[in-house]
Formats: sequence, structure tokens, C-alpha cells
Amino acid sequence: APSACLNGPALFGAELKAARRPQNSHKGSFGDIAILGGAQGMAGAPVLAARAALLSGAGRVFVAALDPALCHDSMHPELMFRVAGSFDFSGRTVVAGPGMGEAPTAARLLAKLIGSDSPLVIDADALNRVSGDTALQAQLAQRKAPAILTPHPLEAARLLGVTAAVVQADRIEAAREISGRFNATVVLKGSGTIIAENKSHTMVINPTGNPGLATGGTGDVLSGVCGALLAQGWGPLGAALGAVWMHGTAADELVDSGVGPIGMAAGELAPAIRSILNRL
Ligand code: APR
Ligand code: MG
Repeated sequence: APSACLNGPALFGAELKAARRPQNSHKGSFGDIAILGGAQGMAGAPVLAARAALLSGAGRVFVAALDPALCHDSMHPELMFRVAGSFDFSGRTVVAGPGMGEAPTAARLLAKLIGSDSPLVIDADALNRVSGDTALQAQLAQRKAPAILTPHPLEAARLLGVTAAVVQADRIEAAREISGRFNATVVLKGSGTIIAENKSHTMVINPTGNPGLATGGTGDVLSGVCGALLAQGWGPLGAALGAVWMHGTAADELVDSGVGPIGMAAGELAPAIRSILNRL
């Protein structure tokens, strides 16, 4: 099948149009989102994802933290920190993975979420968990609710049981294979990020972004934006296309204004994405 180039917002124009905010909106109109992550010593990743979700328009943003100590955050007053083990995820969009670690509680919560009907973004450690658990893979393949998988090449390689070199040698084929096997919308990250969705026969390459993004936490920002768009009612394909294009475009604009590529920090992407969303 031919692959398209994501050379502007045309491919997610329908979602953009539907996202215009009526005057009588309230925060309940824009969805709840929870970030499942934040194991001990990994506070940054879920906060980056949560802040990106907030600035991309999610109505209410929770951090469901595995480490209860993270719940004492007073630096981010708009975010609601909750202990993951006792958090009620139902009815909320969930981004699983940022700084999630490998604790049994994390694994148990992830299995429950994959079996639920919450729209899901699966990133980082949550992807690695899926790679190592065939029961979870079967559950994912059966699921009806939206799922977006956002692997970088090594995470993609683990999902497929191959090496990262194999993934990089044919990125289109790897993305197609993951989408088919796991019944999900796939974002295969890296220069020339691929968005693949087998059930709609979609294969798109994103031209935006630059090496300024090669720094810790930019993937967490991307998963937060994907989740925020899902929470606001975008379909999984539109959300993946929109998030990837805007994330790269934000990085390109930061380079144009001298905030990169050298020293661009992941947290700086979210305000730039917000400004793109409001301009589109
Ligand atoms: N050109 C365009 N985009 C790029 C480039 C580039 N040269 N380099 C990186 N990117 C983009 C990727 O497409 C992706 O959106 O930056 C983002 C990087 O995401 P990740 O690889 O997930 O990196 P990061 O957020 O730092 O996550 C690190 O992932 O390996 C796991 O758990 C590990 O905590 C670690 C986490
Ligand atoms: Mg990552």
C-alpha cells in the first residue's frame, strides 16, 4: 500500500473542526485523563505527560502515581496527584507507561486497564510489559476501545521479538506488523515517525520534528498529547496524526526561535503545542 506524507493538518482536519469549543463549554466537556506511571525515582516522566495533556486541552488531568511520595507535589497545582493502586480509572482516558517501572502493582493495573473500555495510550514501560506477557497481548488484540501504542524503535523491537536494527531496516513493515498483531493504532517514533493503523489501511510518515527532540522526556510529552486529544473526543487515528504532527512542528518552531536544537528541553514543547492548537 502507498504511504502518505503528513504534510499538514489536512489529515486530521475533521477532528480539528469538531474540537471547536462552544461558548457554554465546561471542563467536563473536554475529558478526564489519567497518567499511570511515576514509580520511585521517576517523577519527571508522568509530570511531563500530564502537563502536555493539560496544555493540549484536556479538561481534568490526574497523575495516578505508583510512588505515593509523588502525590506531595506542590509545583503543579493544576494536576491532581492520586495513589495509583486506589485510583478509579473508569470513564477516563489513560496514558499508561511514563516512568511506570516494573513493579507488580503497575503490571496488575495495566492488565485491568487493557481489559477495560477506557481509551488507552500505551507507552514506555507499559509497552515493555506488553512485550513480556502473552496473556496481555491476547487481551489487547481482543479489545474494542481505542488503543494507541507509541513505541520508539527498541520498544517496537521488543514488541515484535526482533532487534532494533530489524525494525529500522523496514520501519513501515514494523509499524504495520505491530498494528495488525496488537489491533491498535501505532506511532513508531524516531526521525520520520510512522503512524500506522491496519483496520483503516493507514500508513503515514511525519516529516516534522528535528534532532532537538533527541532528549529525555520528549516521548512522554507526545503520549500526553495523544491522550489529551483522545480525551477530547478525537478518534485514535486523528489523535495520533495530530499529536505527532504538532509535536514535531512545535520542535521546528522552537528551533526557528533559537530554543534549539541544542538544549531544547522536553517541557518547552507543551506551550508550543498549545499555541499551534489554538492557531489551527
Ligand atoms: N527527528 C525527529 N524526531 C525525533 C528525533 C529526530 N532526530 N529524535 C527523537 N525524536 C522524537 C521521537 O520521534 C519521539 O517522539 O522524540 C521523541 C522521543 O521519544 P522517546 O524515544 O520515547 O524518548 P524519551 O521521551 O526520552 O523516552 C525515554 O523511553 O526508552 C524508554 O523508558 C525509557 O525512560 C526512557 C524513555
Ligand atoms: Mg519514551
